[in-house]
Amino acid sequence: MAGEPFYVTTPIYYVNDVPHIGHAYTTLACDALARFMRLDGRDVLFLTGTDEHGQKVEKAAQELGIAPQELADRNSAKFRKLAADMGYTNDDFIRTTEGRHLKAVQHLWRILRERDEIYLGTYAGWYSVRDEAFFNESELIKGENGKLIAPTGTGAEVEWVEGPSYFFRLAAWQDRLLEFYHRNPDFIAPESRRNEVLSFVKGGLQDLSVSRTSFKWGVPVPDDPDHVMYVWLDALTNYLTAVGYPDTESEAFTTYWPADLHMVGKDILRFHAVFWPAFLLAAGIEPPQRVFAHGWWTNEGQKISKSLGNVIDPTALVAEYGLDQVRYFLLREVPFGNDGDFSRAAMVQRINGDLANGIGNLAQRTLTLIQRNCEAKIPQGGDSSDGDSDLRRACGPSLLAAMRQNMEQQRFHMALQEFMSAVSAADAYITANEPWALKKTDPHRMSAVLYTLAEAIRTLAILAQPFIPDAASRLLDQLAVPEGKRNFSQIEGEGALTPGTDLPKPEGIFPRHVQPSGA
Ligand code: MSP
Repeated sequence: MAGEPFYVTTPIYYVNDVPHIGHAYTTLACDALARFMRLDGRDVLFLTGTDEHGQKVEKAAQELGIAPQELADRNSAKFRKLAADMGYTNDDFIRTTEGRHLKAVQHLWRILRERDEIYLGTYAGWYSVRDEAFFNESELIKGENGKLIAPTGTGAEVEWVEGPSYFFRLAAWQDRLLEFYHRNPDFIAPESRRNEVLSFVKGGLQDLSVSRTSFKWGVPVPDDPDHVMYVWLDALTNYLTAVGYPDTESEAFTTYWPADLHMVGKDILRFHAVFWPAFLLAAGIEPPQRVFAHGWWTNEGQKISKSLGNVIDPTALVAEYGLDQVRYFLLREVPFGNDGDFSRAAMVQRINGDLANGIGNLAQRTLTLIQRNCEAKIPQGGDSSDGDSDLRRACGPSLLAAMRQNMEQQRFHMALQEFMSAVSAADAYITANEPWALKKTDPHRMSAVLYTLAEAIRTLAILAQPFIPDAASRLLDQLAVPEGKRNFSQIEGEGALTPGTDLPKPEGIFPRHVQPSGA
C-alpha cells in the first residue's frame, strides 16, 4: 500500500542566469525533506524546474543576441545538470515553456475570467524587471543620481509602465485571505515571516496587473493574444501543472494536491503566500498547506552578487569539499529560516568537527574494533545492560522521533543537532565501556558492547541518509545492511544486525579536510 502522499516543491528558477549557491540551497532543503519522507514511508512527489518566460528572460536573451527560447533551453539544461550533480532526487523537472504548462495556465486564466476575478483595465505604475514585480511609488527608494529603486534589496531600478492590462481582483480578497491565514496558522513559516505577510495584507491590497502588451515572451492571454500573462501567474501555476491540472480528476491531482509544502526564499514569499492562495481560492482550488521562507546566504560577510564577482558556484564547492560535506554544512550551519554566512573557515570547522571527528571517527573506531576482535563479523549480542538499551534507543527510535518532529517543521539544523547529540552519546558509551580493555577480562561483555555500538551506528546511518546520502550508504555497506533494509521502518525490530554476518574491511567515510597551503 502506498504511504501518505507528500508533495514538496522548489521555486522554479529563472533562466536568465546560471545556477548559484542560492538555488542549490533551496533545492537541497527540499531534497533532504523528500528523502526523509520517502524513508519514512511517505509517497513523495518532489518537483523542481525552470521559470522561462517574462521580460527579464527576454531582455537577457536580447543582450546576448539570441532568441529567448534558446537562452531558456541553454540555461534550463544547466539547472537540470545541477540537480544531477547535487544528487537531488526530484521526481519531475518542469519547464514553463512546455505544452502541458501552457494548457494549465490558459485554463486557470479562463476560469478566473469566467468567475469575473479578472477584468480589463489600464495600468500605469512602476515595475522592476529584475524582481518581475510592481511597486507603489511610496515603497520605492531614492538611489544615487535620483533614480528610483525597488525596495527588495536587489538594487534594481524600476521603470514606468503604462498601457492596457488585465487585472486580478486582489483587493477584494483581503478579508478572505486574512481569514484563511487565521484558519491555517501553519500556512506561513517561520512565524516572523507570517507576521510580515499578515501586516502586509492588513495594510490593504490593490488589484494586481496580470498581463502586459509591451513585450511578447510569455503565455498569450486566451482570446486576447496582444497580451501576455504576468510571469508570476504563469510561474506559480507550475505547481498545478505537474499534478495534471486542468484534469482535477487525475490520479496525480487527487493524490498530491493540495501540495504539502512550497519551499521558497524570503524574497519571493509575498508571491506564494498572498497572490497564490488568492488566485487559487478565486478559481475554487484549495491552496497548499504550507509555504516556508528560508533566509539568504552571504559570502564571507558580503551580499552575493554578480557585480561583486563573489557568486558561489555549487559545483565548484562540491569539487573542493565533497557533496555530503556541502550538504551537511548548508543544512547544519544556519537555523533554517535565518540568513547565513558562507565562510571557508566555518565549512572546514563543520567538516572536521562534526563529520570527521564525529560520525566518521565513531564508525571507524567501532568497525576497526569489530574487525580486530570479532573476526570481522557482526558480534554476538547477549549480556546486555541498561546502558546498552539506552544507547540503542538514543540512536534509534528516540532519535527518529526527534528528527521527524523537526523535519515536519523544516528545522533541518535541529534535526542534525539531535543527530550529533546521539553520536556524542555513542562516543561517551565507548569511553565508559572501554571495549578494548574487555577482550581479556570479559569477552562476552566486549561482544555485547560492540554489538550495541554496531546497532547504534546502523540506525545512525539509516537516519543520516537524507542529509549525507553517499557516506550513509557506504556506512550501511560496511555493516552489510541489505538495500531493502535501509528505511526507517527497519530501525526497530527485524532490521537489527544478525550476529555472525561477515563484514568488509572498514574504510573511513569522512577524511579530515586539510586546507591546501596558500589557500
Ligand atoms: N522564478 C522565480 C520563482 C518562481 S516560483 C513560482 C525566482 N527565481 S530565482 O531563480 O530568482 O530564485 C529562486 C530561489 O533562489 C529563491 O527562492 C531565492 O530566494 C533563492 N536564492 C537566490 N539567491 C539566494 C541566496 N543568496 N541565498 C539563498 N537563496 C537565494 O525567484
